[in-house]
Amino acid sequence: MTVARRDLLLGSAVVGLAGGMAPVPAFAASRRPADGAGALPMPEPVDQLPPALPVQDAARVLMDRGWVFHEGDVEPAPLDTHNATYLSVKAGNGRGAAAVDYDDSDWQSVDLPHDWASFQPFVKTANVAQGYRPRGIGWYRRSFRLDPALRGRRIELEFGGIATNATIWVNGSVVSHNFSGYNAVRIDLTPFARFGDEANVVAVRVDAEAMEGWWYEGAGLYRHVWLGHYAPVSIATDGVHGDPRKGESGWHVPVTATLTSIVDTDSAVTVEARLLDPQGRVVAQGQAQTTVPALDEGKAALDLPVADPMLWSVERPTLYTLDVRLVRDGQVADERRVPIGFRTLRFDAANGFFLNDRPVKLKGVCLHQDHAGVGTAIPDALLGWRLDRLKAMGCNAIRSSHNAPTPELLDWCDRLGFLVMNENRQFNPAPEYRAQLEWLVRRDRNHPSVIMWSVFNEEPMQGTPAGVEMVKRMAHWVRALDDSRPVTAAMNGAFFNPVNVAQVVDVTGFNYYQGDYDRYHQLNPAKPMTSSEDTSAFMTRGAFESDPARHIASSYDVEAASWGDTHRSAWKKIAERAFVAGGFVWTGFDYHGEPTPYEWPSIASFFGIMDLCGFPKTAFDIHRAAWVDDQPVVAIAPHWSWPGREGKPTKVMVLSNGERVVLRLNGKTVGEAVVDRLMGNECTIPYAPGRIEAIAYRGGREVARAAHETVGVPVALRLTPARTVMAGDTEDAQAITIDAVDAKGRHVPTANLMTRFTIEGGAIIGVGNGDPNSHEPEKGNQRSLFNGLAQMIVRPDIGRGRITIRATADGLKPATLKLDRLGVMPRAQVAVMNGDMDVREWRRSPLLATRPSPDLAPAASDNNGWAFVQAGTPTPAEGAGWRVYRAVVTPRRAVAARGGELRLASVGGMASLWVDGQLVAEKRDPKPGPMTATLPSGAGKRTVALIVAGMGNIDSGLLGRVTIRPR
Ligand code: GAL
Repeated sequence: MTVARRDLLLGSAVVGLAGGMAPVPAFAASRRPADGAGALPMPEPVDQLPPALPVQDAARVLMDRGWVFHEGDVEPAPLDTHNATYLSVKAGNGRGAAAVDYDDSDWQSVDLPHDWASFQPFVKTANVAQGYRPRGIGWYRRSFRLDPALRGRRIELEFGGIATNATIWVNGSVVSHNFSGYNAVRIDLTPFARFGDEANVVAVRVDAEAMEGWWYEGAGLYRHVWLGHYAPVSIATDGVHGDPRKGESGWHVPVTATLTSIVDTDSAVTVEARLLDPQGRVVAQGQAQTTVPALDEGKAALDLPVADPMLWSVERPTLYTLDVRLVRDGQVADERRVPIGFRTLRFDAANGFFLNDRPVKLKGVCLHQDHAGVGTAIPDALLGWRLDRLKAMGCNAIRSSHNAPTPELLDWCDRLGFLVMNENRQFNPAPEYRAQLEWLVRRDRNHPSVIMWSVFNEEPMQGTPAGVEMVKRMAHWVRALDDSRPVTAAMNGAFFNPVNVAQVVDVTGFNYYQGDYDRYHQLNPAKPMTSSEDTSAFMTRGAFESDPARHIASSYDVEAASWGDTHRSAWKKIAERAFVAGGFVWTGFDYHGEPTPYEWPSIASFFGIMDLCGFPKTAFDIHRAAWVDDQPVVAIAPHWSWPGREGKPTKVMVLSNGERVVLRLNGKTVGEAVVDRLMGNECTIPYAPGRIEAIAYRGGREVARAAHETVGVPVALRLTPARTVMAGDTEDAQAITIDAVDAKGRHVPTANLMTRFTIEGGAIIGVGNGDPNSHEPEKGNQRSLFNGLAQMIVRPDIGRGRITIRATADGLKPATLKLDRLGVMPRAQVAVMNGDMDVREWRRSPLLATRPSPDLAPAASDNNGWAFVQAGTPTPAEGAGWRVYRAVVTPRRAVAARGGELRLASVGGMASLWVDGQLVAEKRDPKPGPMTATLPSGAGKRTVALIVAGMGNIDSGLLGRVTIRPR
């Protein structure tokens, strides 16, 4: 049976029809990493799909499939004539790969999200900050049909984000120059659209040489693309703002709807809003009338009082659905279903952050969107999985550094209960950048997870009058769109300058400078503050001895950037100060680029609490001990497999949130301590192989236990998924861990051997192992284990079935993993179109008194005597005479190689058809009718001439489509 995915997951099918979203804990069972002796340091697999993300706008359809891609630039042919130059600047006449007719048949087929940089090798001379990966320029193209029934509707194309500078053409007209990799690009296709069988062609040139960051930014169409069609008067994209407020007399939701019209008269409409609780029950409703001016925008506002709603919180992120409908002429013309949450927030200068009037310390991490194997092109499910890894560590806050996040990340944050510091990319109040900032706020202001807006990260102008002027404006624009959240700026210094931007934001954001917290607070006792970035410590996952020569940083939490601090010490400074709202560790995960502290051959950062794959470093347990309050934690570092180390002093760290811990080696107590939850407990003992175990107690009772054993040599491989089921929709994705086990089935933390994979029923879209020094490709079917672990990212094929993965390594028993692929309904995709080439643009001679030669052509500079006509436009009945219709076309590769068929759907008048001066077809009946001819093979330009004899009383010429079909 095939079921809609969301029905499967949200029992009551609430998103689709009935109501709001239940507070489903995503990835339910994967909270705790396994910590038994010799266990894999990853969670146990779960046997259910993650919940589907909300569908806010059912009128839009994904356009992620069916793109073609060309790496490198495509130079258009030089403009060698006056006429070519004249035409080149006319609407619809994009040149080269931007041209509608461009032959892209040898381009590579790709699906989105796509990051072409993640396919690149590491090259020493390439930019260090971008991870030594050449990025360059690339092109994408996509063709699609629009049903004639859509004529008259508003049609919108949206690119979620393009790295980095993009120029976009639709049907040969340039429609956007977008100079940022982090904002959506929305294109009103309505005036450009073609309906029926004719293709609409989107071409995108992406210049990823341009950089907006000092980290790996990927390249290309790395977020979703959507095509929406709406009623002529409709709700604008991001046009619903639902903003729950708690007033004197209780909760209410002020709702505003921005409406947009493509109609050339004013339209009276009604906006209806309903609030649905998590069970889909209507708990409030209202309506408002307004007039949307012709071809312009209008607004409607109403207010929904809500008695005693369930609150959204970190622990229980309850979501309601605000369902807004636009009614025109008695019909529902448009609808949006926006998840919202009821919560209050406040930053207090003395006591930090309050959610729902309860203090909540921000236990946050900074994130770049980047993962092993896939780079920035992270499938939605993997974005959610990464957040779940953070949740398992007690993290409750995310900073989208240093740019607008992919919108699905915020959907996950709403759902999982994260608090988000949402950051703007460019510090610049010029109109283009103002538009980016305002877009960010409009897009994200309904998310209950978002708790503050950051206008910048570390700007040298932060302590200058000019910087203050800039922030003043930017903060003002943010507040004009959303007065419910504070504005911050992530400053790295200038806190004490007589003039500095902290004076014009609501919350001072401290990047580093932790030694200044107290002084700042004393001097500014009324100013709320948070760490916006801290730590910047270095660890290599699974390594416990620093070796600068080999670019290895120990995982004992002893190395940090000069401007930063160790994980423990950075958090201690925050934890011990109520006035510091919280912190955001740099970073939750390692990322490509900005390789610190080592550069080439290191290609990734060492900052992560987890590595590039999401495998935990010791920092994970450090934060788990400090941050998790609702379950006991105990963990030990290092692993306990150190052949050759026997008798040597070995440092052991125990991390726990208990009261007391006991450390045992081979059954004997070797240490006992009152838990230091923030700094951990350490002792140095002589290494002896066997079993090391830590037991945590609370109130004298054992509450948790962790152990490592000395394991034997690897004898077999093991494959461990995050989930045993996947959705057969080609969109789902999950990370699968590869490790080696000893004869007793225990994880071998020291294995560093090459593993190879095969897969059936899915595809491996990336591989990684978390080694920041590895130059192995991140695409393909093999990867070496690094300190015991490697990872593949798997995407399922479509439909119900199995996914079978096999891993092999020389001398080891192979591993086979079988996953169930559930028959879920894939999300709709705009259908892929391929096939006929349209011969659309023709020149038409004046009416000629004598029968012309088929070679008759306009003079090179004639832009007026011969008309520009499009196939399908009849020449109205006129006096007797002849006209020549002439087109110069370059058939596509398949036709050039094997020949094709030239089809004129309908020609009026008696006509003869000529290709390159040869007669290929004749039509003697003047009544409208088709003409077809064989187009012989051959490369290059072909001249097609149609000579039409007008009969004086009928419409003549090219009455219908003209196409070339490959043979
Ligand atoms: C900060 C910056 C981050 C990153 C980090 C490394 O100054 O905001 O983007 O570069 O340093 O420590």
